[in-house]
Amino acid sequence: MTAFSRDNSQNLDQTLRPQTWDEYVGQAKIKENLRILLTAARERGHAAEHVLLYGPPGLGKTTLAHLISKTLGTNMRTTSGPAIERVGDLAAILTNLSPGDVLFIDEIHRLSKSIEEVLYPAMESGVLDIIIGKGPSARTVQLELPPFTLVAATTRISLLSAPLRSRFSGGTFRLDFYNEDDITAILTRSAHMLGVAVDQPVLRDIASRCRATPRTANYLLKRCRDMAQLEGGEITSDVVQATFDLLEIDSLGLGAPDRAVLDAIIHKFNGGPVGLNTIAAATGEEQSTIEDVIEPYLIRQGLLERTPRGRIASPEAYNHLQNN
Ligand SMILES: Nc1ncnc2c1ncn2[C@@H]1O[C@H](COP(=O)(O)OP(=O)(O)OP(=O)(O)O)[C@@H](O)[C@H]1O
Ligand SMILES: [Mg+2]
Repeated sequence: MTAFSRDNSQNLDQTLRPQTWDEYVGQAKIKENLRILLTAARERGHAAEHVLLYGPPGLGKTTLAHLISKTLGTNMRTTSGPAIERVGDLAAILTNLSPGDVLFIDEIHRLSKSIEEVLYPAMESGVLDIIIGKGPSARTVQLELPPFTLVAATTRISLLSAPLRSRFSGGTFRLDFYNEDDITAILTRSAHMLGVAVDQPVLRDIASRCRATPRTANYLLKRCRDMAQLEGGEITSDVVQATFDLLEIDSLGLGAPDRAVLDAIIHKFNGGPVGLNTIAAATGEEQSTIEDVIEPYLIRQGLLERTPRGRIASPEAYNHLQNN
């Protein structure tokens, strides 16, 4: 009988997640800002002020939240916007925190209005206003909360209300796409942790096609490892090429959904401008997927432009589609 050990593809984020600031590559400005904020708070013996992290998926927001709580030496409680359905859910989480804890709310843009309103006084003055009873006999009781640090993450900062945004007194930080050197460094560590030998030029090859995103880079490395295993050898550049071909990833790292969006704009809508909902209908992708995942990288590569009248494909996009 074969004993199956748990495949780590689901747990890939956890296994390869940096455990120290040194392992967290890139994002130097954010790291420096956080280092000062957290060290000062820790030295004063206070909870650090609230921090908002935003940027496209897979760039390291959750990882930063873990590092923040590690640095503060406190526990982290994790929840997410969609998981907090009722005011009572949030109240239960907040009242159960220990002094100095980090509360991590992922996808904070999906919190409902009524819950946001409970969060405001909790963030600002460390109190929870609870309404007891209904109608004329209703009254508000104020509970004092243990001091805590809210770390919130979102891929869609534009959906956050101004009052909520303004309460992140510790700072709002935008995570950037990574350059190839940084991704290569991340892949070098990942290859080591996965126990595979890969040459630097080959890692660089993967780094150039991962949409500048660490999670994607790690994912591709694993797919290359699978391919190499079936071929009975090491991860060579031929193996990498075969893997990219199989996954339909092109020379810029675009996948089929990315190309479908460009293709629709160019061939169905004459290059644009065309509205997001129209692109979504033409490609069968969710609007939110286009906005959160597909578009940011196309914009970064100069293939797509966002204008008030809609999305436009750049001349580079025409070239790229022709040559791929
Ligand atoms: N700066 C970094 N250095 C090294 N590895 C990183 C870095 N950022 C991210 N990673 C790797 O990418 C994985 C995904 O990162 P993470 O889960 O923090 O992204 P995220 O921004 O929270 O994404 P999402 O928006 O989808 O929740 C991590 O588990 C880690 O392996
Ligand atoms: Mg995350």
